[in-house]
Amino acid sequence: MFSRPILERAWALGLVGLVAAGPCDIYSSGGTPCIAAHSTTRALYNAFSGSLYQVKRGSDNTTRNIAPVSAGGVANAASQDSFCAGTTCLITIIYDQSGRGNHLAQAPPGGFQGPEANGYDNLASATGAPVTLNGQKAYGVFVSPGTGYRNNAPSGTAKGDAAEGMYTVLDGTHFNGGCCFDYGNAETNNKDTGNGHMEAIYFGDNTIWGSGAGSGPWIMADLENGLFSGQNTKNNAGDPSISYRFVTAAIKGQPNQWAIRGANAASGTLSTYYNGARPSASGYNPMSKEGAIILGIGGDNSVSGQGTFYEGVMTSGFPSDATENAVQANIVAAKYATTSLTSGPAFTVGSSVSFRATTAGYDTRFLAHSGAAVNTQVVSSSSATTLKQQASWTVRSGLGNSACFSFESRDTPGSYIRHNNFVLQVDSNDGSKQFREDATFCPQAGLNGQGNSIRAWNYPTCYFRHYANVGYAARNGGVHVFDNAASFNDDASWVVSAGFA
Ligand code: AHR
Ligand code: AHR
Ligand code: AHR
Repeated sequence: MFSRPILERAWALGLVGLVAAGPCDIYSSGGTPCIAAHSTTRALYNAFSGSLYQVKRGSDNTTRNIAPVSAGGVANAASQDSFCAGTTCLITIIYDQSGRGNHLAQAPPGGFQGPEANGYDNLASATGAPVTLNGQKAYGVFVSPGTGYRNNAPSGTAKGDAAEGMYTVLDGTHFNGGCCFDYGNAETNNKDTGNGHMEAIYFGDNTIWGSGAGSGPWIMADLENGLFSGQNTKNNAGDPSISYRFVTAAIKGQPNQWAIRGANAASGTLSTYYNGARPSASGYNPMSKEGAIILGIGGDNSVSGQGTFYEGVMTSGFPSDATENAVQANIVAAKYATTSLTSGPAFTVGSSVSFRATTAGYDTRFLAHSGAAVNTQVVSSSSATTLKQQASWTVRSGLGNSACFSFESRDTPGSYIRHNNFVLQVDSNDGSKQFREDATFCPQAGLNGQGNSIRAWNYPTCYFRHYANVGYAARNGGVHVFDNAASFNDDASWVVSAGFA
């Protein structure tokens, strides 16, 4: 199973007899134990069989903990699927496997407010990031802008200039330029308290502070008031754009030194993109790390970043390259792979479809548009051609992700259904990444048991929903009037048939 060089490295690390070890067993053997270990996809210790994460369902707001199928194994996705059947589910807690209780929960407001009514960040959908590990289904944490997790009082994290390491496995195709999709060490008060108060992994193509080679995305270090690709350079050409579907990103720091490393999480070995001195700008040497843990946000709760998190750990001490290399071998052996993003009745690219509402009293209405506005209208075989065309959509391969779909207006070629501030509208494709992502939807089996529910790819908590006969990308029980939980499943389920035109 393991190649000879890996066995030799394991031998050198004193790991023989433990070659089936999880990432945190490897860090322990290397003398730099995990002080936090987070994953919704698998156990990160060979012996771990406790809860990996908690989900909460929309139907009754009850929760269920999801554990690995066996000690050291992959998360029990079937347990989540049965609990979440016929409703929506959010990830409420990502448990710490280290035994220190350093769990991640919904992030509170700070320098920036989150989108919830109380200023907290959103929780992630439990179903936005399905994958397989060694062929077994599991779910990652799909972070849309506005989503974030935090722990402001963990035990054992690095403070001040103390040494630490961290890695995470991410989706290298899900990123943006917003601030800041991070995982790692941050402020304990959710505010920007100054240079050197953070040491976290950043992933995305933000260029406000630093950048690497090409157009991104890059692995950088968020050290507060700066995303660093190298020592001081705004552009470290040694920090490559890295967009494998699965990316391993690692950052580590100790007095006078820090490093960035990265790899394809599905094959190969880690490369070092920077290893050297601390930035010379004031505040970064020595560091003033505060020791909170963030996921999906900046230190001051900046909530504009997006990305997908599968697993990550933080260590006590500066891990050796050899230890990290052995962890990378373990990640590769976990065999992360993609799986279908859709379920329910199938869609055929190129076909014309209609979407019929299923809410009692509204089920003669179809998703249609009047100019840019998306609404529902009563349509039948005897309707005028104009109306028939307004209620017909051509299925296209997803503009933002070809595993999902886009819906082109039948009467306005080149224009597609997209969401904008969570309102559905028909807009012409401006070619931007934002447009393509806002116009990409992943159909799943209908939440009320009929037809399909149409999930927004970039906001998997949001579904096509009619409310007062207007079309929205609505979140079950969210802050908008149109998010109202009453009749959500019915309003968000559509029978998909051949288009009228
Ligand atoms: O360092 C980049 C960002 O700057 C931090 O994440 C945030 O706290 C500040 O806005
Ligand atoms: O619809 C939600 C977001 O609102 C879209 O992703 C963005 O384009 C707009 O700001
Ligand atoms: O869109 C019609 C109705 O408007 C929805 O069923 C209901 O949720 C809202 O009041």
